[in-house]
Amino acid sequence: MDHLEEIRARIGIEELVGSYVQLKKAGRNLKGLCPFHNEKSPSFIVSPDKGIAYCFGCHQGGDIFKFTQLVENVNFPEALKILAQKTGVKLPEHAPLVANQRLKTIEINQWATQFYQEKLEANPPMKNYFLDRGLTDETIRKFKLGYAPDSFDQLKNFLAGKNFDKKDLIEAAVVSQRSIADQNTYDRFRNRLMFPIFDHQDNPVGFSGRIVGQGEPKYINSPETPAYSKSLILYGLNWAKESVKAKDMAIFMEGYMDVIAAHQAGTTNAMATCGTALTPQQLKLIQRYTKNVCFCFDGDSAGKDATFRAIELAQLSEVNIQVIMVPEGKDPDECIKKNPAAWQKAVENPISVMDFYFDFALSHFDSKSIQGKRQIMDFLMPVIKTAKSEVEQNIHLNRLALELKTDTKLLWNDLRAMKGKKIAVQETSATGPKGREQFSQEEYLLGFVFSHPEIYPEVAKGLIENIPLDPNTERFYKACKTVYTRESFIDLAHIKEELSEEDRGRVEVLGLLVDEEYPDFSEETRNREIRKLIRAINLRNLTGIHKEYQYKIRLSQDPEQTKVLLNRLKETSELMQGI
Ligand code: UTP
Ligand code: MN
Repeated sequence: MDHLEEIRARIGIEELVGSYVQLKKAGRNLKGLCPFHNEKSPSFIVSPDKGIAYCFGCHQGGDIFKFTQLVENVNFPEALKILAQKTGVKLPEHAPLVANQRLKTIEINQWATQFYQEKLEANPPMKNYFLDRGLTDETIRKFKLGYAPDSFDQLKNFLAGKNFDKKDLIEAAVVSQRSIADQNTYDRFRNRLMFPIFDHQDNPVGFSGRIVGQGEPKYINSPETPAYSKSLILYGLNWAKESVKAKDMAIFMEGYMDVIAAHQAGTTNAMATCGTALTPQQLKLIQRYTKNVCFCFDGDSAGKDATFRAIELAQLSEVNIQVIMVPEGKDPDECIKKNPAAWQKAVENPISVMDFYFDFALSHFDSKSIQGKRQIMDFLMPVIKTAKSEVEQNIHLNRLALELKTDTKLLWNDLRAMKGKKIAVQETSATGPKGREQFSQEEYLLGFVFSHPEIYPEVAKGLIENIPLDPNTERFYKACKTVYTRESFIDLAHIKEELSEEDRGRVEVLGLLVDEEYPDFSEETRNREIRKLIRAINLRNLTGIHKEYQYKIRLSQDPEQTKVLLNRLKETSELMQGI
């Protein structure tokens, strides 16, 4: 990668950015209006020392390569070419333009996507499958849908013709190997309808292949690869992000076909988790675009369950949550086909979380029998208890009283008698002047560690769980731990050695974050901030665990298990009060 270093040496970040944006000096750094989003006052910071440019408003940026990718809207190899030209660095004729395994995987996926698309065009019965399901030609092209032929080696041979190594094809997981001993490889996806999966920057990172017709497994997904981590990807976000910003709302669905059908029907802010429950990382990602999320999962009991889980997870962050109930059919795709008008109406009228809980309770339990009333109360009262104010609680209790044909006053007595202090789900942020909430508390804390490594031991001692809540930061905490265990000392250069190229840039960004937001503060203020952060993270961690137990208790059928869970719940509450 010598030519990368050479390019870096020939052009400074301030010079490069300066050719796109007017920069003004601000202490050690430079400031300007962000080229990636519209703003009136500058939040775009360029750090010549760190070699990065980063916007604290829209959270985009990075080193010269990343900046060029973003500002020119190109992929890494193209950005490399642009910079090579700018700096007069000659790239070796056959230089592998891909810098690392992730980019190699993406390039392989690009070719594979094209291959599957061509096979679909060449195979009318397969294309008819999509057409029969109501997709238009345009939609098929937009989502780059394809077909993996019923063959063990067509893709493999096609990619070999593009000069990819066998090893890289295995890493990209487009081919499989029976075992280490058996060196033969074969196409992973055979006789399947192919859905390429893109990250939010439009890179093809993996695939999902649907069986033709009925059978198991219905979908085969790419495993984790250097480019694909399913807990990080929201299927459809690449096509949805503009619309999410414009409508200031993101709709989450379960399936690929749901997303595609929704987009075709004009619901262009739809996306899906890739065959998993919603993850904290996915929630974090969407908050770059909007604070308003809406869950639109399947109408069956698995879908309801997914909705409860997603709501409980989302309540830990600061997003506003609503629910769209699929009015007809099993899932959005079916509803759109059966009754597009009903779909439009449902999309335009999402319901509140409380409505969703009421709807669930009243349709599952019999509000006329004594036992049913008890069940409805058991289900709803704890939820009502968490409402923000007594005024709101009163509204919900009135409604419940009406449904159960009882008196609101009696319900109030029950609610007041309910054990357990109200738990503040989200402490008001420990840091983040001017209410900047886009960085997690774990990230702020890391920022302090990266700008003042000597505080690390206190941080390590203070966090109750070793694994931080924000999974995006897990690798960094691990790297700190590894280095500290080995050397009893945190050296940033050594931390970076433990991290990938991309993560190294993140170390700089987080350091810059703290430098920018706390330009000059005393050691005392700093230590206070750090303690506040540790406390807030611990509290949030325990709150999550607490919710998890509450959830399990709700589902538990076995009295013994319930008892154990109740004990754990109590222990967790005590720990929380101790903080
Ligand atoms: P569904 O079984 O609801 O399928 O799975 P679907 O999306 O409605 O698909 P169609 O309409 O029958 O074609 C929902 C999602 O769960 C994941 C996929 O992401 C799917 O879209 N899934 C499902 C898997 O990953 N593997 C499976 O075997 C099944
Ligand atoms: Mn479906």
